[in-house]
Amino acid sequence: MIHVENLNKTFKKCIKQPGVIGACKSLFNPQIEFFEAVKDLSFEIPKGEIMGFIGANGAGKSTTIKILTGILSPTSGICQINGRDPQKYRVKYVKEIGVVFGQRTQLWWDLALQETYSVLKEIYEIPNFEFRKRMDFLNEVLELNDFIKDPVRTLSLGQRMRADIAASLLHNPKVLFLDEPTIGLDVAVKDNIRRAITHINQEEQTTILLTTHDLNDIEQLCNRIFMIDKGQKIFDGSVSQLKQKFGKIHEVTFDLVSKNDIKKLDYCHKFEEIEFEQKGTIVKIKFDASKIAIQDLLKYTLSHVSVTDITVKNADIEEIVRRFFRKEIINVQ
Ligand SMILES: Nc1ncnc2c1ncn2[C@@H]1O[C@H](COP(=O)(O)OP(=O)(O)OP(=O)(O)O)[C@@H](O)[C@H]1O
Ligand SMILES: [Mg+2]
Repeated sequence: MIHVENLNKTFKKCIKQPGVIGACKSLFNPQIEFFEAVKDLSFEIPKGEIMGFIGANGAGKSTTIKILTGILSPTSGICQINGRDPQKYRVKYVKEIGVVFGQRTQLWWDLALQETYSVLKEIYEIPNFEFRKRMDFLNEVLELNDFIKDPVRTLSLGQRMRADIAASLLHNPKVLFLDEPTIGLDVAVKDNIRRAITHINQEEQTTILLTTHDLNDIEQLCNRIFMIDKGQKIFDGSVSQLKQKFGKIHEVTFDLVSKNDIKKLDYCHKFEEIEFEQKGTIVKIKFDASKIAIQDLLKYTLSHVSVTDITVKNADIEEIVRRFFRKEIINVQ
């Protein structure tokens, strides 16, 4: 469905010097720098797969999506969606894809949401019957009814994101690109959006490429993860392979009443493959939740020491990329 081979994108940056003299110098003698945002990327995404495309800020995710959607042209390499080059067949191609950039809306600010959908219906030439059926389906999975008559500018972030996803799906695209669809949303809306994505993928066999900084999105949605850093591939595999290789992605922090209480805790003998560090009264533990049950860890700790605070979290994508470079993980493909 999606075929990417040796894809490269180099941006030309004009370095502006400060001050008026600097501005004049830049005008007559511009200093040009080249920046490789995407370097030799190759991957295939088969029909119906949801692939998580992850990496730290500035890794090149959005640039790749812009190339795949025909917004940017690659410097070199092959990119084909359904056998077609997105740049060459832009007009036909837009009917086959849906795109959501979580950071910015593609809806008309002053139009009521349902009018926006009517305009899109005309643009995509969707027949009346199909449109009504599709709207009913999208209303059901994304719960748009409460705000469908409101102007887009009055929608909350979560409502706007659901509205944007519905807009990208109105013409029933075969391929959906979601660039951070859950950014800035509360847990309930994230959950709603994840359920909608799963539903659409299962019902329509839609192929989805999703970027996110939230590991929960990845765990709940993606069969496969493709991780990049500085425009290059650093990992391609399943979520369980990622967990195997990147291991201890769960983190629990205890704030002890007394820093000397650490002597009462013998994590290394009690639990397998656990890592912990202490700074004053704070004890940070990293572990793999598939090997150690969090309740066992809490029970053991609380039965031996008194604590004033507990925090539980998953390592985020940036932490995983950092670990990769600290060589905590070996043999990553
Ligand atoms: N039009 C452009 N001109 C010059 N440099 C650009 C341009 N667009 C992106 N870049 C650079 O390319 C790199 C990759 O940017 P990109 O937006 O693809 O990152 P990202 O992986 O989507 O990051 P984030 O997680 O922050 O969204 C960044 O260093 C960015 O500054
Ligand atoms: Mg981005």
